[in-house]
Amino acid sequence: MLESQDLERLEKLFVSMQEANGCFLGYPFARGFNYEPLWRFMSLTGNNLGDPFETGTYRVNSHDFECEVVDFFARLFRAPLGEFWGYITNGGTEGNIYGMYLARELYPQAVAYFSHDTHYSVSKGARLLGLDHCVVCSQSNGEMSYDDLAQKAIRTRNRPAVVVANIGTTMKEAKDDTLKIRATLRDVGISEIYIHSDAALCGPYAPLLDPKPAFDFADGADSITLSGHKFLGAPIPCGVVLSRKPHVQRVMRAIDYIGSSDTTLSGSRNAYTPIILWYAIRSLGIEGIKRTFHECEQLAASTAGELNACGVRAWRNPNALTVVFPPVDESIKAKWQIATRDVSHLVVTPGTTKRQIDTLIAAITDRSR
Ligand SMILES: Cc1ncc(COP(=O)(O)O)c(C=O)c1O
Repeated sequence: MLESQDLERLEKLFVSMQEANGCFLGYPFARGFNYEPLWRFMSLTGNNLGDPFETGTYRVNSHDFECEVVDFFARLFRAPLGEFWGYITNGGTEGNIYGMYLARELYPQAVAYFSHDTHYSVSKGARLLGLDHCVVCSQSNGEMSYDDLAQKAIRTRNRPAVVVANIGTTMKEAKDDTLKIRATLRDVGISEIYIHSDAALCGPYAPLLDPKPAFDFADGADSITLSGHKFLGAPIPCGVVLSRKPHVQRVMRAIDYIGSSDTTLSGSRNAYTPIILWYAIRSLGIEGIKRTFHECEQLAASTAGELNACGVRAWRNPNALTVVFPPVDESIKAKWQIATRDVSHLVVTPGTTKRQIDTLIAAITDRSR
């Protein structure tokens, strides 16, 4: 039993996290979810050790639910039937590093290409994996410059190419085009190409957009990752990574100790996040994801419109939930946890309210007059 001062500390932490959850517009994390029916699992030890698609000695897991989540996204991402594999990760970062690991195992001599607007997990992945890499310029909307990709790739056209395509860049939610990437590299004479699509935020809804961005397996991706806690919403960071099966078979090792194959990046793995993601996709379904995206998109559109009407130069990429505007003051940045680089942004995710947006707009416009 905890002493009273420890209980007080817990109470204070809860109140401060609750307050921070309410003033949270600069990073894409859904709020307002209710996973109460799953609370009882917290009284059990769970560990998804091993390959989710295999039955090992270790049974304290939620592998079946993990496989259902992987199957759901495999269908959405037009994975080749029976020729895909995937697992639930700790988030987008692990998925990116995993995709780049599969690529490095296929093409150890490759050069990795990714745009200036790419999430920092990707350059970390390149460093970790000892992959030579080359940063490609971005267009002003955040999308990769295919001209610059061609100019840079031509210098190393005798080596395979690993490209990380952004399906929603971190700051501007710009989407790179995997078909254009492949065509550009082929034009400069590179035929050994691996494309990893980083769909951290947009993964759940990108397949449902009209026009659909070119990013999935049918559009030439070799692996795809998404974050579970960004659009779908989860109290614990999580994600999904999918790949073409032969890429995973290359890294697979049989492990006697667990009676299963070692195919994932970590050994012990979260058993709760697959249940949370399963619960999210079962309760939302495709129609629910579409509806929720549509609601968020409308709020993002009206936010950009209202900021413009107040004289703040705000804009969005097509079908983006991210509203980009000039950098805000330190005090606004601190209060609303607004990510800022050359620009600031807010991201409308499920659970973002009009009231929060109105309060932020009032703060921004007071200071920009
Ligand atoms: C484009 C992109 N990729 C990867 C990540 C990393 O995801 P996670 O925070 O789930 O590790 C982010 C996070 O913001 C991101 O924006």
